[in-house]
Amino acid sequence: MTEPADAAPRVRSLAALRRAEATCTGCELQEHAEQVVGGEGPRTARLMLVGEQPGDREDRQGHVFVGPAGHLLDRALAEAGIAREDVFLTNAVKHFRFRERGKRRIHQSPTVRQVRACHPWLEAELRLVGPEVVGLLGAVAAKSVFGQDFRLTDRRGEILEHEGRRWVATVHPSSLLRTEDSAEREAAFEAFVGDLRVVAGA
Ligand code: URA
Repeated sequence: MTEPADAAPRVRSLAALRRAEATCTGCELQEHAEQVVGGEGPRTARLMLVGEQPGDREDRQGHVFVGPAGHLLDRALAEAGIAREDVFLTNAVKHFRFRERGKRRIHQSPTVRQVRACHPWLEAELRLVGPEVVGLLGAVAAKSVFGQDFRLTDRRGEILEHEGRRWVATVHPSSLLRTEDSAEREAAFEAFVGDLRVVAGA
């Protein structure tokens, strides 16, 4: 059950990556999720955005960012002047982690071990797509690249040079959905758009 993603460093195309990801048994999440949800977008994308993991909708449909957080991300990308179809969108973890409450599937953050087990797939995407800039959406994505000591609150919106490319960490769009006060939510949305503009400018 705990084989690492051994095939990841050898794949030569996004299609082969998709096929290899679908066979991954690197952690137990594949036992409960409907399917693996790999990254999507052009192989020539200069910008990659990395979220946390697929949500309920993504798990059912097999596509990244098609649920409520995805709709919010679409709105923010449009406002920042970034075309979604030019971006390679993916996640730090490729399977949905959840617990069941009645008929509902409640999101649970992936564990550090699950994020590590999935990391070779993200590395393979980075190698194949070769983006100049990577936006990391939320602490899970940021820590998957910069390690557990990374503090999003300290480094948010900064352009970071690492392994030959530029990285910008910001909040996850779902954090905005959880903000109840509408004025606060609007301010948080504007700040998120501001970070995406930094990403686009980088
Ligand atoms: N949240 C993520 O981090 N990724 C998705 O694909 C959807 C929601």
